Amino acid sequence: MRRAIYPGSFDPLTNGHVNVIERSLRLCDRLIVAVARNISKTALFSVDERIEMVREVFADEPRLEVHAFEGLLVDYAQSVGAHVIMRGLRAVADFEYEYQMANMNRTLAPGVETAFIMADPANFYVSSRLVKEVASLGGDIAHAVPPTVFARLAQRLPTRQAAP
Ligand code: PNS
Repeated sequence: MRRAIYPGSFDPLTNGHVNVIERSLRLCDRLIVAVARNISKTALFSVDERIEMVREVFADEPRLEVHAFEGLLVDYAQSVGAHVIMRGLRAVADFEYEYQMANMNRTLAPGVETAFIMADPANFYVSSRLVKEVASLGGDIAHAVPPTVFARLAQRLPTRQAAP
């Protein structure tokens, strides 16, 4: 059975992530979405909320598991029997960071390969960071996240009322 792992912060899940998950599912038998616990970034959503967001969107997908992880990604990947790490690649700006991570991970665990999915053009500009920034400033972000995530964002970051 081909098991792959798709790690990330998912704070929050975007349509870009959803697209990478859907396409990754075509390449493996089971996909484990691994939500990082120990990210240094200040998170808007708790790990449990981020897990729920993925589970809500993929409630009908029996081949998908969503879990939190901490510590080294390659250790977690090996502990769940995944031999492939899936990552999405957007703009050129992603490349250097991803190249470093992929090579570091391969040095740490030569049996775990990293595979990249090129972002589809519709989501090329979408990132969790921009989603949070635009939403916090009252911009419409419905085109960049699943409806369930949009509802959570609206709750967490109520649109600012226009000054009277
Ligand atoms: O969505 P992100 O924030 O780009 O995901 C980054 C993530 C969580 C995949 C990366 O930070 C990670 O793997 N963290 C776990 C700790 C680890 O293994 N660090 C060494 C990576 S070379």
